Amino acid sequence: MAHNIAVIGGDGIGPDVTAEAVKVIRAAGVDIATTDFDLGGSRYLKDGEILSDETLDELRAFDCILLGAVGTPDVPPGVIERGLLLKMRFELDLYINQRPFVGTAPGGTEPHDFVVIRENTEGPYVGEGGSLREGTPQEVATQGSFNTRFGVERCVRHAFELASTRERKHLTLVHKTNVLQFSGSLWQRTFDEVATEYPQVDTAYNHVDAACIYFVQDPHRYDVVVTDNLFGDILTDLGGAVSGGIGLASSANLNPDRTGPSMFEPVHGSAPDIVGQNKANPTASILSAALMLDFLGETDAAARIRTACDEAGTGSTTDVGDMIAARVGN
Ligand code: IPM
Ligand code: MN
Repeated sequence: MAHNIAVIGGDGIGPDVTAEAVKVIRAAGVDIATTDFDLGGSRYLKDGEILSDETLDELRAFDCILLGAVGTPDVPPGVIERGLLLKMRFELDLYINQRPFVGTAPGGTEPHDFVVIRENTEGPYVGEGGSLREGTPQEVATQGSFNTRFGVERCVRHAFELASTRERKHLTLVHKTNVLQFSGSLWQRTFDEVATEYPQVDTAYNHVDAACIYFVQDPHRYDVVVTDNLFGDILTDLGGAVSGGIGLASSANLNPDRTGPSMFEPVHGSAPDIVGQNKANPTASILSAALMLDFLGETDAAARIRTACDEAGTGSTTDVGDMIAARVGN
């Protein structure tokens, strides 16, 4: 049976890299039925829709969502990010943002291979807070970080589950417990309690500032890293930078309970500066498609796609897509 995939190409280079990902999935012999959704900044400028509840309900019926990139310079920053991307993460309960990093850090000699598990529905992203007397010298702005025992525990548990399936079975909690005493304590206690259920997993803790140094200078220490939404956002850009660049960084926004579709997207943005030039690297999108195939149980095709990405040379967007498609076999 074909997997039903909603495709949101989005803005800028998003539709082009996503088209290559779809091409590669089909070349790998996986049966997918795709439905395109015109969403993103350009659609918003056309008729005002960002992501209506009706469209959201249509998306719920799919097995997975493949997303390119959203955002255009003609729309103020944050509008599409919050109204489309974050709305999908929250409403579809995509509580895990899983981002793998394989590569060799600049100046390093040995390759690393680790995964960051970023909590994806809480923290400062919830938008708790407000402002008063805006634009005056008395302006006040607060921005809270929202952390629930339920939300932290399901994220930490997912990370322990993943670590227990990997060869090294090692999990590092990253936070800032020396300053963020309330949320830090909740994360640390939850982590320690769940750890007792996974005696086979070795654990460690790093403050996030120290983790930034280790990501660059000693990424080999990591196997699985679990952290909150904002630390995870920042750390995964750094992860991309030390693993061959953002052109290779893939991500999975998962609803592990499968109560709705999960969403797969490259970490990079819509790159409006190079749109229409056929020069964006589609590899991050193709590797995100491989994560989707893993989630759909098509693990053999996913593995072949990853190998083909490793072996492909450089070229235009369509050249790289064609090279990878030609190598995936089936
Ligand atoms: C990411 C992005 C998003 C985030 C933005 C576009 C809202 O940076 O997926 O990492 O902050 O989560
Ligand atoms: Mn980010």
